[in-house]
Amino acid sequence: MHEFRYVNGRLQCEGVALDALVKQHGTPLYVYSQSTLEDHYQKLDDALAPLDHLICFAMKANSNCAVMRTLADCGGGFDTVSEGELRRVIAAGGDPRKCVFAGVGKTEREIEFALRKGIYSFNVESEPELIRINKVAARLKKTAPIAVRVNPNVDAGTHAKITTGTYENKFGIAFEEVEGVYARARKLKHIRLRGVQMHIGSQLTEVKPFELAVRKMLPLVERLKARHALEFFSIGGGLGIIYQSALASAAPEWWQASAAKKILTPAKYAATLVPLLQPLGLRIIIEPGRFIVGNAGVLVTRVEYVKRTGRKNFVIVDAAMNDLIRPAFYDSYHEIVPLQKKGGATVSSDVVGPVCESGDYFCKDRPLPKVGEGDHLALLSAGAYGFVMASNYNSRALATEVLVKRRKSAVVRPRQKIEAIWETEQPAPWQKR
Ligand code: LLP
Repeated sequence: MHEFRYVNGRLQCEGVALDALVKQHGTPLYVYSQSTLEDHYQKLDDALAPLDHLICFAMKANSNCAVMRTLADCGGGFDTVSEGELRRVIAAGGDPRKCVFAGVGKTEREIEFALRKGIYSFNVESEPELIRINKVAARLKKTAPIAVRVNPNVDAGTHAKITTGTYENKFGIAFEEVEGVYARARKLKHIRLRGVQMHIGSQLTEVKPFELAVRKMLPLVERLKARHALEFFSIGGGLGIIYQSALASAAPEWWQASAAKKILTPAKYAATLVPLLQPLGLRIIIEPGRFIVGNAGVLVTRVEYVKRTGRKNFVIVDAAMNDLIRPAFYDSYHEIVPLQKKGGATVSSDVVGPVCESGDYFCKDRPLPKVGEGDHLALLSAGAYGFVMASNYNSRALATEVLVKRRKSAVVRPRQKIEAIWETEQPAPWQKR
């Protein structure tokens, strides 16, 4: 469910017409719906209500401070992976004591920062990291709460670049080695064994891989809990969303009923997993990113040119792979719709950006309504792994971000000034003139 829909032929977000936002703020423009964020958070929270649970939003998916504040106000914590992310949590008004710190390459400085801020748990990805955390904690005369990230070696069956739970990946500690690691960790004076963690991949559209991984983990978690008095089990993130027909998921009842059969809803996720997890008597943490924010954001772009070649109809827009890299990087599908609904025949089109790479496209040979210079298109489901993966490639400024809440809208990050791109660069001393 999300809040982007056509009203009288104009695409709106929570009662605000996107073309009005374009007039005010220009393009490329990211627009987020606060009510959608809240709704998604709430749906997960309700589904997990039978468990003592904590939702740690995987902020790597979208770390805009206003998005984060929305989720902090809902009561959520955050899954962080760097000092920068943890600093953002604090800047956004979140609570570090509701945060976990993951990632395979935590530096001493990052560990120290997280310890000083009272992080809930480090998700440890290797034994050398465990030893480093113990050392830093000893220096600070603190005890570091940790969970080992277990690699359950379950194939999530998702895109190769976002599968994480098999032994082909760099993440976590192999299932078979985990008990030994806990036994050794227990001897480290400045480590508190607080929990155990897993994450098998992203954009999972079925509950089965989660179920297999949880079932595989259960006996291990039981044993670890009994031996080390653990407090929590984190089952990671990964709930998938609908990318195709994303707009339809906003409104018609009939569509939702049929789509609900296909997608992984929080209710389905919980119906399978809660009965498995409840007997553990542990606090359950989940780390959803995409599910919360994916369909809560769109990227609006202007059509600059339409270029017809013998074989193709290229719609050249002012957003590019530097704004939204997912199609170039993962061949991912984002639905593309005009801000003004158009009838008539469709044209097989490639929507491409101005960046000098043939990978700079948003879709290929897709039937789209006929558009021309000055029309605007929305790339849907761009709220997760959109702006956060943007870059200044081709010296293109980072886009504006706007948050909408019930007919109100606000810029939550202004367009980057072009000069700001090279502001901190300088010639070497011998090049000065
Ligand atoms: N927890 C851990 C340990 C993770 O590595 C991730 C995502 C998450 C939670 C959140 O996963 P989610 O609920 O969002 O699926 N850039 C890629 C996705 C990379 C995911 C990385 N890890 C994309 O655009 O599809």
